Amino acid sequence: MTTQIETSMKNYVMDHQRLKYLFFGGKGGVGKTAMAGATAIWLAKQGRRVMLASTNPVHSLSGLLGQNVFGQPTAVNGVPNLWAYEIDTKDTIERSKQEIREKIQWFLKFADISTKAEDFVESATMNPAFEESAMFENMVDLMLGGEYDVYVFDTAPTANARRLLGMSQVYSLWVGKMLKSRQEARSLRELLSFTKKKEADPLMDYLVSFRDRMGKAREMLTDPAQTAFFFVTLAEALPIAVITRFIGWFHDFGIPVGGVIVNMLIDQKQVDEKSPDFVKNRVAMQDRYMDDVWQKFEGMVRSTLPLYETEVRGVDMLQRMGKALFV
Ligand SMILES: Nc1ncnc2c1ncn2[C@@H]1O[C@H](COP(=O)(O)OP(=O)(O)O)[C@@H](O)[C@H]1O
Ligand SMILES: [Mg+2]
Repeated sequence: MTTQIETSMKNYVMDHQRLKYLFFGGKGGVGKTAMAGATAIWLAKQGRRVMLASTNPVHSLSGLLGQNVFGQPTAVNGVPNLWAYEIDTKDTIERSKQEIREKIQWFLKFADISTKAEDFVESATMNPAFEESAMFENMVDLMLGGEYDVYVFDTAPTANARRLLGMSQVYSLWVGKMLKSRQEARSLRELLSFTKKKEADPLMDYLVSFRDRMGKAREMLTDPAQTAFFFVTLAEALPIAVITRFIGWFHDFGIPVGGVIVNMLIDQKQVDEKSPDFVKNRVAMQDRYMDDVWQKFEGMVRSTLPLYETEVRGVDMLQRMGKALFV
């Protein structure tokens, strides 16, 4: 067992020149948001145009950066080449509902069904999966926009991320099936109609464009040259167990894992015999769990970061963290 970093975060990024989509996953509170901010700033300093985005309905980028970045891409003060953006999920959910309402209305008219569209709209949109898929679409729209060189996502808890990514596969299957039956229905209708004129079919157009977007998203998200998920952990049992599970899932889904980052390590040099028992115990525990980390994530550890004397907030502190992350 090697107890040192083989490929560092910096080398990983250098070795993946086309890397465009970076994600951070892990248990709540391990430092994902801070890590995303530090990474985005570091990449912007390398001269890349960087978008730091959050699709999570519980946003924390504005707090992290000390400036309001809600609702639109906003240039980050004091960091050239960096924009941050907390996506307004409420707004997108409303817009998706409206879109679905129009589709359903069109379809009910098309199929000669006299029911209020609202009943369908409610059942189609009143579930948590709808919110998740709206968030996923937000992310995909941003990714496909292609206005930036690099996108760093402050992800929702990773269980969601994995489900969302898995959903793109389901979408693709589902839309494929829908399209096939729509095409059959349409050709039957054309066959039965006396005019040869092709009818407009907004539902079909929508499904085709939806499938194409999802297909592109999947392609991007499963391409190790463009995408990397980094998993953040502490030297503690629970966060290690969480990312072990995530890494297994991601492997199964063919989503590229960039590596593991260990955060909040107490600096051994500051601890000696005179230190309080509390601190000595924490350090002994940390040592034990680091053995686990090196063993479980062999060759995957990219960086180990110290526990700082304060929380990580503001550009200066994030820059300091970035330097430690990309040594
Ligand atoms: N290395 C560190 N040293 C000290 N505080 C840290 C460190 N990394 C993160 N923090 C702090 O820990 C808290 C949780 O970090 P955050 O990035 O919000 O976690 P997550 O996004 O995973 O929930 C924040 O207050 C953050 O400033
Ligand atoms: Mg967070």
